[in-house]
Amino acid sequence: MTDTASIIGAHDQYMTINYGRYPIAMVKGEGSYLWDAEGKRYLDLFCGFGAGLLGHCHPALVDAVTKQARTLWHSGNLTHTLPQTQAAQAIWSSGFHGRSFFCHSGADANEAAFKLARLYGRKNPGKQGKRYKIISAQQSFHGRTFGTMVATAQKKVSEGYEPLMPGYTCVPYDDLKAVEAAVDEVTVAVIVEPIQGEGGVRVPSDGFLPGLRKLCDDRDLLLICDEVWTGGGRTGKWFAHQHWNIVPDMMTLAKGVGGGLPVGVMCAHERVAGLFDHRRHGTVAHATTLGGNCLSMAAAAAVFRTIEAQGLLDHANKIGNHAMTRLRAAMKRSGGRIAAVRGKGLFIGVELNPQAKGATFKNAGEIVDRCRQRGVLVNATQNVVIRLAPSLAIGQEEMDEGLSVLEQVILG
Ligand SMILES: Cc1ncc(COP(=O)(O)O)c(C=O)c1O
Repeated sequence: MTDTASIIGAHDQYMTINYGRYPIAMVKGEGSYLWDAEGKRYLDLFCGFGAGLLGHCHPALVDAVTKQARTLWHSGNLTHTLPQTQAAQAIWSSGFHGRSFFCHSGADANEAAFKLARLYGRKNPGKQGKRYKIISAQQSFHGRTFGTMVATAQKKVSEGYEPLMPGYTCVPYDDLKAVEAAVDEVTVAVIVEPIQGEGGVRVPSDGFLPGLRKLCDDRDLLLICDEVWTGGGRTGKWFAHQHWNIVPDMMTLAKGVGGGLPVGVMCAHERVAGLFDHRRHGTVAHATTLGGNCLSMAAAAAVFRTIEAQGLLDHANKIGNHAMTRLRAAMKRSGGRIAAVRGKGLFIGVELNPQAKGATFKNAGEIVDRCRQRGVLVNATQNVVIRLAPSLAIGQEEMDEGLSVLEQVILG
């Protein structure tokens, strides 16, 4: 059963059909390339929602995970393990001095952040008693669990699952005044993506995050930066909030920090993280059995180590700037078919205008399909935005190869 038709046939018979998958089955990866079951090669400029941060089967990750698998596979959170502490230390050393709680996914990490925020709101009540309300942004994405899908604030994500969890409200992204107006006596936290991912790689104006930090300080609100897309070097800094020199109270990570293995992290400063402290409170306030498992942690520690050792933050900035300069030049000759190019590091969005004269596409999905047929994987979001999130280790020639295809399919 190794051909595409048999793999898809078995999927159709035995699995839930919850994803809209392309009619291809991947069997091999190396660097920036994937191969399907028929041996066709694809240049991967999206790396599985950015989770393949160092590309496919990076030797440093393969070595670290293989070594770990041979040494200690699982012991559980009643004991201490070296890979967990190494991963937590790597996050600390990358500039966010918080305590890490490890779990499996972005949603999982945000759930932990929301629970911690509620503990904080109970300990630091307002005039009307305990505070619990969380403010998020329209077109954000924070996950699909019961708690996170309400924060996600996109109807298509929560529709059908009512009654929804109370205690959330959402406001337009990059609108400080709207956040301010939404704060009331029961508000305890604001969650924000430093750059919106699913929302279309939207980079906020420069004053937004510093303003949000100040507002949170003034009103004793916790600022949670959801760095699930942007954390771990994707934007050319370890964490995207560092572009604006702010420090959140909590930060959540997932996707890229596991390099393709399941890792979620909720990282909080001591004054907040202390509310989870078992030694102080004598209860398990939050937990998950396989969170921080040895193999995922070995991968996470190796991701940070490799980025540092190979100078991949600088590399991501260099290749990202080159790509955006090239795409902006294409925008100029596109006659309006490319409406905007935005991003930081290797997190890039290309907004299309299907209404522009000469456009041969109705939406970004058609461009994704045409690129794929020509052996290049990119992604579409918000109907009109092409997203690029290649490996941080991608070479300039590979990037140019992909951009040439993308430009050709957009510009004809
Ligand atoms: C910013 C952000 N937060 C959280 C999530 C949820 O992560 P996961 O799919 O790992 O649960 C996503 C997923 O795309 C995301 O983009």
